[in-house]
Amino acid sequence: MSAAIFRSVAKQSRSSAWARSARFASTAAKQQTLKERLAELIPQELEQVKAVRAEHGKKSFGPVLVDQLYGGMRGLPALIWDGSVLDADEGIRFRGKTITECQELLPKAPGGSEPLPEGLFWLLVTGEIPTQEQVDALSKDWAARAAIPEFVEELLDRCPPTLHPMSQFSLAVTALNHDSTFAKAYSQGISKKEYWGPVFEDCMDLIAKLPNIAGRIYRNVYGQGKVPAIDATKDYSWNLANVLGFAEKSDFVELLRLYITIHSDHEGGNVSAHTGKLVGSALSDPFLAFGASLNGLAGPLHGLANQEVLLWLRKMQSKIGVDASDETVKEYVWSTLKGGQVVPGYGHAVLRKTDPRYSAQREFALKHLPEDPLFKLVGQVYNIVPGVLLEAGKAKNPWPNVDAHSGVLLTYYGLDQMNFYTVLFGVSRAFGVAAQLIWDRALGAPLERPKSYSTAHIKKMFDGKN
Ligand SMILES: CC(C)(COP(=O)(O)OP(=O)(O)OC[C@H]1O[C@@H](n2cnc3c(N)ncnc32)[C@H](O)[C@@H]1OP(=O)(O)O)[C@@H](O)C(=O)NCCC(=O)NCCS
Repeated sequence: MSAAIFRSVAKQSRSSAWARSARFASTAAKQQTLKERLAELIPQELEQVKAVRAEHGKKSFGPVLVDQLYGGMRGLPALIWDGSVLDADEGIRFRGKTITECQELLPKAPGGSEPLPEGLFWLLVTGEIPTQEQVDALSKDWAARAAIPEFVEELLDRCPPTLHPMSQFSLAVTALNHDSTFAKAYSQGISKKEYWGPVFEDCMDLIAKLPNIAGRIYRNVYGQGKVPAIDATKDYSWNLANVLGFAEKSDFVELLRLYITIHSDHEGGNVSAHTGKLVGSALSDPFLAFGASLNGLAGPLHGLANQEVLLWLRKMQSKIGVDASDETVKEYVWSTLKGGQVVPGYGHAVLRKTDPRYSAQREFALKHLPEDPLFKLVGQVYNIVPGVLLEAGKAKNPWPNVDAHSGVLLTYYGLDQMNFYTVLFGVSRAFGVAAQLIWDRALGAPLERPKSYSTAHIKKMFDGKN
């Protein structure tokens, strides 16, 4: 984008921001809200995308191999998402910032050392580090939006406790579409240019309501009594911990802050992020889009792996005992592979090194629970599994991913109901999917519609041609 375009865009956005800010005149002394800042950024970004497409739109991004059509589209360049980018060796960066940088730069709770997910959301949406005041305002805004409709409460109360928490989660989120601001605005004929506003409101509502949904599922399924009220003086993670009954454990609240931050987003192509984007592209509202994301996250090769890891570790302990030798653990890993199963928590479709989300959780464990036997077992497994996977010769990445560690930390603090773990992943993933939905509608992302081919077509195209 040329300097001249940048200057004119900046000028334009300044004047339109001035016009928009007129209705916030009474709060002029206050810092900008997320929505106000976003309204300033959108025109600049629209111009940038226009300029990139004008200059590079007809350039090839590399060949498409027939193997990629059959191989789950691995490595196929197909999507745009500025919120986070995943490097195979280095891992995730949120708007260019590593997990460690986010831990350093994002605002914290009083006395805390982990980033507040409110700040991470601001970063994902704007690319900027918010002030403490802006983050506090988000906590308050989400607390004010947190109540869920009575019929959604009843819906959850009627679910049998045997229905997996993720199915209940998806059901409740989908039902929130009843009150979608976007769906209503669309039915009233809103202009395309205005889509992002009601989508923003829905996304804020979505994130805000998740603790009440997660808390209700947890308490219903595991018989933990009534969900306590959201406390508007506390941050999002404290409230999430509180509805689960763990707010008194301040280290657990800190864990949740880290947990939500690192699970929020993992670029655009993973199943949950891409599903949200895809469904959103049909102009389904954010509740419908994120409900679909959750159904993808509930798969054992994706988010359910955090539950699977703990089940696998527990099964191993019951089979070979708690203090098994490296040799016995190795044999157990081999027996998993020979049984035609995957070793949960290991491997990745993009990563080729240890996932920094695993390392961040390991750092947390070293600080807070270095002597925990299950943590030690995770460390022992880490020393053994990559060697076995390499020897087996199939997995392209033998290293652990985020799910190899999360369950151990939750269990340590007493949250040992493994089939609830993916719900916490889901709460976190809403932050990334929501940020992406807002930007997709702001930039006018079109309906997704890739082309599929039949095997007969492929044969006809290439048979006899070298
Ligand atoms: C994440 C995952 C689905 C990525 O799949 P992928 O991109 O197809 O991975 P690869 O290209 O390395 O797979 C090549 C082969 O190695 C196998 N493989 C990959 N990871 C494996 C693991 N952890 N244990 C056993 N086998 C594994 C695959 O199943 C595949 O086997 P196949 O050729 O018989 O189908 C895969 O690594 C996996 O199943 N891991 C365990 C589940 C998990 O932890 N998921 C959470 C991811 S964040």
